[in-house]
Amino acid sequence: MPSPLLVGRAAESRLLDDAARRAGEGDVAVVLVGGEAGVGKTRLVEEFATRSGTRVLTGGCVELGADVLPFAPFVAALRGVAPSLDDAERARLAPLLPGLPSAPTADDEHARPRLFEGVLALLARLAAERPTLLVLEDAHWADRSSLDLLDFLVRNLRAAPGAMLVVTHRSDEPAARGLRTLLAGLGRLAWVERVALAPLSRPEVAAQAGAILGRPADPELVRTVHSRSDGNPLFVEALLADPHGLPGSLEDLLGTRVDRLGSAATVVRAAAVGGMRTPHAVLAAVCAEPVDEPVRAAVDAGVLVVDGDGYRFRHALIRDAVLARVLPGERAALHRRYADALRATGCACNELSQHLTGAGDGRARSPPHGSRRYSPAARSPTPRSCSCWNGCSAGGTAFPARPVSWAPTGPPFSNARARRRPGPARTTAASGWSPRRSRIPP
Ligand SMILES: Nc1ncnc2c1ncn2[C@@H]1O[C@H](COP(=O)(O)OP(=O)(O)OP(=O)(O)O)[C@@H](O)[C@H]1O
Ligand SMILES: [Mg+2]
Repeated sequence: MPSPLLVGRAAESRLLDDAARRAGEGDVAVVLVGGEAGVGKTRLVEEFATRSGTRVLTGGCVELGADVLPFAPFVAALRGVAPSLDDAERARLAPLLPGLPSAPTADDEHARPRLFEGVLALLARLAAERPTLLVLEDAHWADRSSLDLLDFLVRNLRAAPGAMLVVTHRSDEPAARGLRTLLAGLGRLAWVERVALAPLSRPEVAAQAGAILGRPADPELVRTVHSRSDGNPLFVEALLADPHGLPGSLEDLLGTRVDRLGSAATVVRAAAVGGMRTPHAVLAAVCAEPVDEPVRAAVDAGVLVVDGDGYRFRHALIRDAVLARVLPGERAALHRRYADALRATGCACNELSQHLTGAGDGRARSPPHGSRRYSPAARSPTPRSCSCWNGCSAGGTAFPARPVSWAPTGPPFSNARARRRPGPARTTAASGWSPRRSRIPP
């Protein structure tokens, strides 16, 4: 359930209000609002639009793939003013109006400039009557034509005094690459400001939880929800109902990103069993295949981020969603590979025993007869501190960069429960995920 109260966002709200004031005084303003999915872009802009007292035209982009519906957000934004258009405007804007000829294609040299000029002229006319706010939501899904029109409008907005344009976009959406370049260029214009929405702080999560629950939230609940949500208000809402689990709505939302990865998802599942963070060499060893391309796809998709010599899940809940998709047998086999990788370094730490437990064997043991271990030649000859990626201080040797072949032969996953490790790093033990619904014990 959404919070009836907008929490935090004082600076961002002030920036938007100031921009609206300037537009109200006959200037123009453009604000580009970015942030990860669920961080609160729409909520911020909706609250602003409501209190702005301006005429508001809103259009959203939809996730339909490129160019399925050209100019979709502009068609939606103009719907409200269509009845008030005069004949000349209707003729110029016909491609954007329901029931009239369809949008010009990119090859239509003359129709597009006419249409673009028509939209700008309409905005100028409306803004001359009263301050007018055009909101374009989810620009990361915009079709090429809409991006061109957006670019044109922002660059020429000074021809429409009294107009303000607000654009929201996800910063973690893979499709947003072309958009990023466009927004970076627009951001250099004097009348354009950029806002990057950060996650909520713990006191803000407490305020959001309190507003949703209708009473002050228990500090322990706040601690858990803040830590698991990373301050993402959408995740806060979902976790309040199930603070230690992975609510179905979140699993669907986050899991979809991983499903889209196709064959690269195998490497992401292996990384998830390794923990929140996995060194590159370890992941390559465990996967027994080159991981560069799959990892690049996962980074582009906002699932993993590069972190030093390895990779980290962008969000603990994304890892949870991935783990929920790892089958028990696959998980046991991966744990065994991780355990072997650790033993190959001479490490005997908690991490190793957790992987052995996950593999269905709590005792340190030799590799199964006939299995291949890391080739000594492939190992770095230089001893260094243990490569355990979750804080072990034991000594050991570095992981080989070369993948190792290892046929999983152990017993199936033992259903041992995962244990969350205390401490600041929100790494969860790699074992113990219910195949049906992931749950992190407190
Ligand atoms: N500052 C806030 N205070 C209280 N609730 C918030 C706040 N920000 C967001 N929310 C709530 O969190 C949920 C997600 O917010 P919102 O839809 O605005 O995210 P978004 O960034 O637009 O996500 P998307 O990228 O998916 O469009 C909504 O239910 C919203 O009401
Ligand atoms: Mg939104």
